[in-house]
Amino acid sequence: MTIPFVDLKTQYQALKPQIHERINRVLEHGQYIMGPEVQELEEKLAAYTGAKHCITVASGTEALLISLMALGIKPGDEVITTPFTFVATAEVIVLLGAKPVFVDIEPDTCNINASKIEEKITSKTKAIMPVSLYGQPADMDEINAIAARNGNIPVIEDAAQSFGAEYKGMKSSNLSTIGCTSFFPSKPLGCYGDGGAIFTNDDLIAQACKEIRVHGQSARYVHTRVGVGGRMDTLQCAIVLAKLERFDWEIEQRIKIGQRYTQMFLSSGASNTLAFAPVKIRPVRTSVYAQYTLICPDRAAIQSKLKQANIPTAIHYPVPLNEQAAYRQLCCPDCTPIASRIAKQVISLPMAPDLTVSQQEAIVACLTQ
Ligand SMILES: Cc1ncc(COP(=O)(O)O)c(C=O)c1O
Repeated sequence: MTIPFVDLKTQYQALKPQIHERINRVLEHGQYIMGPEVQELEEKLAAYTGAKHCITVASGTEALLISLMALGIKPGDEVITTPFTFVATAEVIVLLGAKPVFVDIEPDTCNINASKIEEKITSKTKAIMPVSLYGQPADMDEINAIAARNGNIPVIEDAAQSFGAEYKGMKSSNLSTIGCTSFFPSKPLGCYGDGGAIFTNDDLIAQACKEIRVHGQSARYVHTRVGVGGRMDTLQCAIVLAKLERFDWEIEQRIKIGQRYTQMFLSSGASNTLAFAPVKIRPVRTSVYAQYTLICPDRAAIQSKLKQANIPTAIHYPVPLNEQAAYRQLCCPDCTPIASRIAKQVISLPMAPDLTVSQQEAIVACLTQ
């Protein structure tokens, strides 16, 4: 049995007529840039999350960059974030000349430890950027409360991995001042290239993001501010629109499959004997399991067992950002010992809405027998 790490082919087969119809429609009308599908997608995603505004952009990275630009982040400013994330989270801060201030993570969820944020706030702190890692929001109530009592610091949720997840019944991307997601193909809601979106309830921020996305234009050839070329292609929007038809079912499946993995591991007792534990999902939150991840002190043993059985795995992420050459001068790894340790212990298993029970049984059996 061949098990893909992420199964985009089965999804494509299931949605083939809708995807082709949507693509053909764009080819017929020919409005490849800012065509009608862009607005249609923005309206549907805003309604889905409950946010007032959705602004589609060229990628998740661009969503983060444009959001920081809309907040006016400039050289010398500080942005609090986690070192245990994909590099884009910190990269965009540094690109603007600001400084990422890394706060350590919780050892069981791998998300930023909210209780350690306040001690890092200074007069230079201009934003807090938690990441909803592996598909589960961080402790957003606590983070929003810290931001509010320290002068209403804007909070940007990096929701690149968590679109569709919930926190106290609210959708990820609509949990703070701004939410940013990614439509990278392997994300829970993916397109067939690059894409992303910004969500906010703030009219001024939304207007700024819209202008920055198109080179800072407030009207044609009127450049009110410095911007970027950050639009999402009409074709990619059309693909996401087609995929939305199956998205609710896919989210249900992801949650079911993630919970089933955990149940299977717990009932086998293997997480005790083999000494690994699934990343913890806190009450009143859901994870959409962009990754299903185990924490295991002896990762090499688990990795080689799965490799021998031809089961693909991945490591998200092997090195915290403050140990990477480009970022280590910003903060020493001693400041974030949990991230340092966890980076050596995580391993992600195959996950897709179309993962079958027998595929899952084979994966679990490999680790528990
Ligand atoms: C946490 C996180 N932030 C940002 C990004 C960047 O998204 P994109 O690849 O769409 O630029 C990703 C995705 O790779 C991510 O996982």
